[in-house]
Amino acid sequence: MDINDLNSVLSIDKLAFPNPWPVNAFQYELENNTNARLWVGEFQNNSEKQIIAMAVIWIILDEAHIGTLAIHPDFQKKGFGQQFLAFIFSQLISESIVRIFLEVRQSNSIAINLYRKFGFEIDGERKNYYRDNGETAILMSTPIKSSDFYKDFLILKEVDDNLIRREIK
Ligand SMILES: CC(C)(COP(=O)(O)OP(=O)(O)OC[C@H]1O[C@@H](n2cnc3c(N)ncnc32)[C@H](O)[C@@H]1OP(=O)(O)O)[C@@H](O)C(=O)NCCC(=O)NCCS
Repeated sequence: MDINDLNSVLSIDKLAFPNPWPVNAFQYELENNTNARLWVGEFQNNSEKQIIAMAVIWIILDEAHIGTLAIHPDFQKKGFGQQFLAFIFSQLISESIVRIFLEVRQSNSIAINLYRKFGFEIDGERKNYYRDNGETAILMSTPIKSSDFYKDFLILKEVDDNLIRREIK
């Protein structure tokens, strides 16, 4: 486990969500859950590197579930979320994933817009899902797309060269 990655991941999680995961939840995913894939995205500016993106994906047979995903607030709305997700989804193709699932807060229109761009559609909802405010979760899924589909997102923005994505183990 790379403890430096974990500190940055925890700090992004705290900044991005009202109910961040406790440290032991990330530790469990890193150390014990062989079905978990943890990703970080590093922003590289000249010689400086900063982790600005994190995601946890669970693999269950031929399905993937997005456990969490966030971009550091200072780097949101610049195309990084889309870049990061496109890269992760393209990696799922090699794991023979056929469908991707997620839950998202009903009020999180930014994330819902992002997921719609990747072909996600609403399957249903779970009322009272989020403990902090009782908000409804929207359930979304999409069949996995072709690598060409994801490639279009990867080359779409000029920020691409600055974002390095790597799996943490
Ligand atoms: C949701 C999140 C991952 C999106 O990442 P991002 O880097 O900010 O998004 P991008 O700049 O790549 O934008 C991708 C798409 O998201 C949507 N989007 C981004 N900002 C938006 C805004 N202010 N209003 C509406 N839609 C927006 C758009 O569909 C956009 O595509 P477009 O640029 O063609 O319009 C990021 O905002 C985040 O970490 N939010 C907090 C944590 C969170 O909500 N995670 C998701 C939990 S399910």
